Amino acid sequence: MLSSAPASAVHTLPSYLQADKLGPWGVYLQQIDRVTPYLGHLARWVETLKRPKRALIVDVPIELDNGTIAHFEGYRVQHNTSRGPGKGGVRFHQDVTLSEVMALAAWMSIKNAAVNVPYGGAKGGIRVDPRQLSRSELERLTRRYTSEIGIIIGPTKDIPAPDVNTNGQIMAWMMDTYSMNVGATATGVVTGKPVDLGGSLGRVEATGRGVFTVGVEAAKRIGLPIEGARVAVQGLGNVGGTAGKLFAQAGARVVAVQDHTGTIGNDQGLDMSALLAHVQAHGGVDGFAGADRMAPQEFWGVACEILIPAALESQITRLNAGQIKARLVIEGANGPTTPEADDILHDKDVLVLPDVIANAGGVTVSYFEWVQDFSSFFWSEDEINARLVRIMQEAFAGIWQVAAEHGVSLRTATFIVACQRILRAREMRGLYP
Ligand SMILES: NC(=O)c1ccc[n+]([C@@H]2O[C@H](COP(=O)([O-])OP(=O)(O)OC[C@H]3O[C@@H](n4cnc5c(N)ncnc54)[C@H](O)[C@@H]3O)[C@@H](O)[C@H]2O)c1
Repeated sequence: MLSSAPASAVHTLPSYLQADKLGPWGVYLQQIDRVTPYLGHLARWVETLKRPKRALIVDVPIELDNGTIAHFEGYRVQHNTSRGPGKGGVRFHQDVTLSEVMALAAWMSIKNAAVNVPYGGAKGGIRVDPRQLSRSELERLTRRYTSEIGIIIGPTKDIPAPDVNTNGQIMAWMMDTYSMNVGATATGVVTGKPVDLGGSLGRVEATGRGVFTVGVEAAKRIGLPIEGARVAVQGLGNVGGTAGKLFAQAGARVVAVQDHTGTIGNDQGLDMSALLAHVQAHGGVDGFAGADRMAPQEFWGVACEILIPAALESQITRLNAGQIKARLVIEGANGPTTPEADDILHDKDVLVLPDVIANAGGVTVSYFEWVQDFSSFFWSEDEINARLVRIMQEAFAGIWQVAAEHGVSLRTATFIVACQRILRAREMRGLYP
């Protein structure tokens, strides 16, 4: 029987979600509620952002090397495709949940619209600790997962990429599996591939370069010189390592670094080339000769002007936000600041550059990779870096202006810009049928 109640009353949440256990998806829904008053007539369409367009749950069975059969939970969520095909990474992690993949897919919709690349948002994942698998088990897992989600991905439908614990090799297996299934080489089905296989120059450093680019723009606007600025970085991997190196090259001093192996500092500034070589050789910062060891909890209170969380989610919380001395926090990681900590930093007048713009450099160069794959014509690294910097600077300038106009945080401003772009596309396309 059809209900006569208004849609908003009957459908406050899709039925597969429990209001008391929303997890990361709940955080995303709060962010959408916060931005709705700024959407004007487009608010009529906002419900479309509160529901993923499509969520696929797949069983991924593989035979382990010891002859037993193991089953893993796999997901692919397409949150929104109003502006173009789905785009977003694949995460292999033991804690992956549907709520997390839904939220990450939704944040990809926001990120892609914020930098104005012609994509919707998607994300995928397998609930697995890949360190427990051999290389051939990992390959079988990746190939079976790719086959299972093959019914919804494709170069013009949804394009996966690397995320936590996935890399160029995994993208190569995904590309090969998809290509075998459709009977033709389809390099454009994934990005983040090795350069020899249709990958793009500059992709590895792209996220860190984007972090650096928007960081410099924000610093200019608050009168903070990069030359001599003290920088603290959590996570010295792909994102934090590149961002730290670029800040040091621009004359800043990286005075503290924390990773999963330890916390180190040097008031004179760490030698970033030597430190990155040490991390490459030893797997982490611990044991680096040119620095003093610090207690992990000291990291957040380090005297610095710029703080870059570039490791994990929920690192800046109500418990440590009060200690932060930086004037600028640049979110290299996805979701490093909890909503409570965000409010504390705002009250302390700390400027937070949110993940949805700060780490969008990676997907921007993924977009370049996809374009290059379609045309089979590859660009130089200088060309790629120049285009990346221009896109990031233009996106940041627009967001800064919206924040000033409405007197809102950069996070809310990024959501305003992105949601308006998505919902304008939705409105113009209209509803099918
Ligand atoms: N790589 C990209 O292109 C990209 C793009 C957008 C967002 N991100 C986000 O950036 C973050 C980092 O990604 P990455 O690609 O640099 O990963 P990575 O695996 O290369 O590096 C992760 C870093 O985090 C550190 N780390 C792990 N656990 C830690 C802990 N408990 N305490 C302190 N440090 C810890 C590791 O030691 C390592 O230095 C993730 O949130 C990811 O989703 C990455």
